[in-house]
Amino acid sequence: MKVGFAGAGKVGCSLGRHFNETRHILSGYYSRTKSSAQGAAEFTKSTYFQDLDTLVENSDIVFITVPDDAISGIWEQIKHMPISGKMICHCSGSLSSEIFKDIEETGAYGFSVHPLLAVSDRYTSYRELPNALFTIEGNEKYLSKIEGLLSSVNLRTVRINADVKPRYHGAAVLCSNLVVALVKAAQDELRMCGFPEESLSSAIAPLLLGNAKKVILAGAEAALTGPIERNDFGTVQKHLQTFSGLDRDIYRTLSKKTLEIACTRHPEQDYKALEQLLADYSG
Ligand SMILES: NC(=O)c1ccc[n+]([C@@H]2O[C@H](COP(=O)([O-])OP(=O)(O)OC[C@H]3O[C@@H](n4cnc5c(N)ncnc54)[C@H](OP(=O)(O)O)[C@@H]3O)[C@@H](O)[C@H]2O)c1
Repeated sequence: MKVGFAGAGKVGCSLGRHFNETRHILSGYYSRTKSSAQGAAEFTKSTYFQDLDTLVENSDIVFITVPDDAISGIWEQIKHMPISGKMICHCSGSLSSEIFKDIEETGAYGFSVHPLLAVSDRYTSYRELPNALFTIEGNEKYLSKIEGLLSSVNLRTVRINADVKPRYHGAAVLCSNLVVALVKAAQDELRMCGFPEESLSSAIAPLLLGNAKKVILAGAEAALTGPIERNDFGTVQKHLQTFSGLDRDIYRTLSKKTLEIACTRHPEQDYKALEQLLADYSG
């Protein structure tokens, strides 16, 4: 089963290289920009295709690895080609296979195959793919073939329902991109405390990495420390008084979620005053 890619970006290059390293046969790459597709083909020891038709013709499985907004445009082109029996996949987290409109009429099978991973680099991120869980959904009859394909190259899969994909992807964003924003907020505040630029990351590294490790290994309740868990009303009040703007909004919103965890961990504690403070505080 030859795998080809339409879209030679971060995910296309990473998946292709992984397939190549695990000795799965690749057809190659088509992309908007010739040099991207040529670079990907070279990186994965496969072929550069100068048009979408030739890529599709030479592939049994086509991964559409373009930005989410471009997927339906590529599908609109592919659906008019002779694709009966082929498997068409995209890698979007928020979209389902339903984006492949009228696929039943083509005789092809559609799937979404999403790696739960921040793929940040075309040429190095492939090394992290074996750590990622791939969520898959699509044509019921042939879903096991996609599972078989991924497990044959040592990638882990779990099935997901099409209708929960936006929620699922939102959850991924919460623990990924939004953590980046949270770290940036903490660094902005530390800068205002006078921390030199070069120490902003190393200063918070033990806090950030230690918490990430603990919450994954032991769970949210066991990992929770800090003024909310201790019910330190005065400390939280001072934080709210000190922060302003977006950083205060972030602090206040996440403190409400933190309070939910604290209440579950210490049902004997009375957190009402803190709850009121977080609900009413307006600066
Ligand atoms: N990056 C992540 O962390 C991540 C994680 C999981 C899933 N995904 C999903 O993976 C998919 C690809 O994301 P990505 O991060 O790899 O994006 P990306 O790095 O921006 O790569 C997209 C590639 O598609 C090419 N392209 C754009 N429009 C095109 C078109 N109309 N026709 C042909 N090629 C086109 C781009 O252009 P050029 O040819 O000009 O280079 C580029 O090479 C998305 O569905 C995304 O949601 C991404």
